[in-house]
Amino acid sequence: MTQLLQDKDRIFTNLYGRHDWRLEGAKQRGHWNATKDILDQGRDWIIDEMKKSGLRGRGGAGFPTGLKWSFMPKEVGARPHYLVVNADESEPGTCKDREIMRNDPQTLIEGCLIASFAMQAHACYIYIRGEYQFELERMEAAIKQAYDAKLIGKDNVHGWDFDLYIHHGAGAYICGEETALLESLEGKKGQPRLKPPFPANAGLYGAPTTVNNVESIAVAPTILRRGADWFAGFGREGNAGTKVFSISGHVNAPCNVEEVMSIPLKTLIETHCGGVRGGWDNLKAVIPGGSSVPLLPKEICDDVLMDFDALKEHKSGLGTAAVIVMDKSTDLVKAIARISYFYKHESCGQCTPCREGTGWMWRVLDRMSRGEAEISEIDDLLDVAGQVEGHTICALGDAAAWPVQGLIRHFRGEIEDRINNYRAGKPVFVAAAE
Ligand code: NAI
Ligand code: SF4
Repeated sequence: MTQLLQDKDRIFTNLYGRHDWRLEGAKQRGHWNATKDILDQGRDWIIDEMKKSGLRGRGGAGFPTGLKWSFMPKEVGARPHYLVVNADESEPGTCKDREIMRNDPQTLIEGCLIASFAMQAHACYIYIRGEYQFELERMEAAIKQAYDAKLIGKDNVHGWDFDLYIHHGAGAYICGEETALLESLEGKKGQPRLKPPFPANAGLYGAPTTVNNVESIAVAPTILRRGADWFAGFGREGNAGTKVFSISGHVNAPCNVEEVMSIPLKTLIETHCGGVRGGWDNLKAVIPGGSSVPLLPKEICDDVLMDFDALKEHKSGLGTAAVIVMDKSTDLVKAIARISYFYKHESCGQCTPCREGTGWMWRVLDRMSRGEAEISEIDDLLDVAGQVEGHTICALGDAAAWPVQGLIRHFRGEIEDRINNYRAGKPVFVAAAE
């Protein structure tokens, strides 16, 4: 029996904006409570607690957050240290950071101060997605309140001089890739850099920098207040904590919800979204972690757990925990073709396998969705996806290849059927009733 997250254990107590988002409201909900006591425990303690908590990055890759913080140099040399918060939330299906910035902005600001102190950064930049105009204004207002109350800024009550700046993106998905984001912050074209060096060695303006997702930073104050063991007590080993899931598609009530990590997918959907449209048996497939990860057929969804390792076992991933539900009425080939178009459109064009491969995969899938292809092209498609995967500067190439590979792995028969139907002059795809 799955233990669901109880209200007393929720970190994001205002995820739905039912309470006051302003500083006073945030303080009443426990934010900014004894923050100075946390800083007084010292940098090593903070980083050790973050490691012990088991928090893995919430932006999609799941890299351990405390470990990442520990990569920053122990001493500040000639170059200043920076914290950069990645709020360029653009992964299709993902809208969790949006809600945090809208409704719980002070927990993000408090997290920025604590993380910056731990890594000896006096400046932090929050890079907000270009389309998030409301969130930009909300964050600016919340930051002003924090400055006015002397919670941040020069000579603040916490004794760590700290400035927080917002940077507004211009609508490019690739600027969510951490090194493209740094390039963009520096005023250059947003194209990913080769890694290594990782940002902790050479980040913003070549200085030691840590780039973290909004949710990763926003959970830090509560973890440090309530203790690493408390956070590590949720989820399975290696997959600790609570997590904000964004659930969309063919469910009765799409939502964002904070739940325990490792919750069964079926429980998540049935408890918080009113179930799949038409009932669980009407489910066809789920993309469990944003458009970059391969879809899973119903048979796997029946009992898969929502965490990094469980989904990896099924050759998919938790990604951003954006769950896209597709019922039996879905034209999966068309859906994945549309995702392929997205990656073709968003490729920065720097590396040949991605620049050429994304367009090639989209064109072939687009034809396949109409049945206008040869059966042998399915293997050609798989071959090209394999040549894109792992052969590019950044993860966008992988993200373009994985959905295609997932479609062929689980639904090859659907592609074959429509090619055969097209040749026989029959309708290529007949949707099941909604
Ligand atoms: P990555 O695995 O290369 O890196 C993850 C983080 O760990 C980075 O901050 C990186 O600097 C750090 N890191 C990894 N190995 C390291 C090492 N050896 N030493 C020091 N630091 C190291 O993954 P990446 O490319 O940053 O993220 C890919 C993920 O982003 C995808 O899985 C996807 O789910 C997610 N994504 C999220 C989006 C969103 O809107 N939140 C948009 C697009 C993708
Ligand atoms: Fe640009 Fe694609 Fe290469 Fe990433 S993989 S650097 S998006 S061309």
